[in-house]
Amino acid sequence: MQTGADETPVRCVFGELGEVQADLICVPVFEDEGSEELRSLDAALGGSINRARASGELRGKTHELFFADVATPTWRTRRVLLVGAGTRARYDTSRARTVAGAAGLAARDRRVRRLVFVCRAAGERAPMAQAAVEGVLLGAFRDTRYKSEDTGSSPLTSVEVYFGEDVAPQTRAAVERGVLLAGCSNLARELTNEPGNLFTPRVFADRACELASGPHTTVEVLDEQAIAAQGMGLLQGVAQGSVEPPRVIVMRYEPEDAVPGPVLGLVGKGVTFDSGGLSIKTADGMERMKCDMAGGGAVVCAMRAIGRLLPSVRVIGVVPAAENMPGGRAIRPGDVLTAANGKRVEVLNTDAEGRLILGDALTLAQRFGATHLVDIATLTGACVVALGHHASGLLGAPDAWVESVRQVADRAGERVWPLPMFEEYAEQLQSETADLTNVGGRPGGAITAGMFLKAFSGGLPWAHLDIAGTAWYDTAQPHHTKGATGVGVRTLAALPFEVAW
Ligand code: BES
Ligand code: MN
Ligand code: ZN
Repeated sequence: MQTGADETPVRCVFGELGEVQADLICVPVFEDEGSEELRSLDAALGGSINRARASGELRGKTHELFFADVATPTWRTRRVLLVGAGTRARYDTSRARTVAGAAGLAARDRRVRRLVFVCRAAGERAPMAQAAVEGVLLGAFRDTRYKSEDTGSSPLTSVEVYFGEDVAPQTRAAVERGVLLAGCSNLARELTNEPGNLFTPRVFADRACELASGPHTTVEVLDEQAIAAQGMGLLQGVAQGSVEPPRVIVMRYEPEDAVPGPVLGLVGKGVTFDSGGLSIKTADGMERMKCDMAGGGAVVCAMRAIGRLLPSVRVIGVVPAAENMPGGRAIRPGDVLTAANGKRVEVLNTDAEGRLILGDALTLAQRFGATHLVDIATLTGACVVALGHHASGLLGAPDAWVESVRQVADRAGERVWPLPMFEEYAEQLQSETADLTNVGGRPGGAITAGMFLKAFSGGLPWAHLDIAGTAWYDTAQPHHTKGATGVGVRTLAALPFEVAW
């Protein structure tokens, strides 16, 4: 099931603000600005900006909201929302995105259909405009697919980004990119919000075919037989405790004028539900584990974006999809599995399943031609302990490749933070019986998970994003509802453009 998550029309407008016809005009206000720049707006609002400034009701603190009615009878829009934007110096694209997000969320909650967002770009206009559009559309997202009656709100029917004067073609193009990337992020959020019973590996594969296929992108789905033929024993092992068969989704983006040489391989964890298997999780919060395919969803939706943005670098996306269940045929702690690259893994904890299916998927991506690898996964609770919910873990090798991924993520406004990969951590994975174990104990749990994946990277440039803390918000943020975040889509889609190949 799908909403119109990527369909809200967005236009650029300029000229007199009073001429713009909408339900709500949103204007960022800075903490440290005087009355000068907002003077004519204040006049249209009958002086309520200055009054609210004086009383302290409007201070310009980040994400603060202040609504005002338009007093001037000739204005075509009757209501204005002032959104606190913090200090001018700190108003970068990340801040602009969340400020616009707060506006989008507020508009959505108040049944606004036609929204205008005033772009007050301090720096370069194009990236600021893109960030603003992304923010509005991400903030306005609401998932009511399984509500019989939606009494909450109606979706935005149009968004207009307002500029003081006409904008350059680069800015219009940036707005278009923002629309696409926010739409693809919202689709990823829908996939991740899906309940486990309705979103099995087979359903995931069907949805990927619909979402990612395009003129330059093919989608191939490996079924149980094909998975066996590829020797993916780690994936088979994880899937065998469930009545739902596994799938591997392989998406190939092949532009006509492809740069010879590099092939970017994107690999995403697609565990449609993680019960833990026989090393079963506690009941408290287990329902959250429907989000354990967020990395796979990000890869599918990034491939959709890539197929529309048309970079000249080839990209292959691989999503291993399985359900981790404790059925009668489930793997046992102590079982030994043979990976697609021939390595033998002793499974000491069946709840460390993500690294198993990713290990085989990394091998497959290489087999299918990837030269540079990035994987993304809700992989470890330890990463949530280390970084909380405001940054994804970033690991990998060599440092130069990891650093270039870090920079792309930064520009996309998806915070990541590096964790070290010193050789010594690998000792925690030594096995008595096999080549390595799948768990390394509690110390440095996010890092040992990374060390496990490294053993399947074939020595290629490889980076790993642990999104266990960032794929889902348990509590609503000022700019974002509860639930799936779609994290990773924007970074992954930007990689083919922004890395120096
Ligand atoms: N899917 C979980 C990790 C996770 C935790 C994602 C919290 C999102 C929020 C993963 O499969 C898992 O269970 N990891 C174990 C590994 C452990 C057994 C070594 C964990 O983190 O506890
Ligand atoms: Mn698990
Ligand atoms: Zn998991």
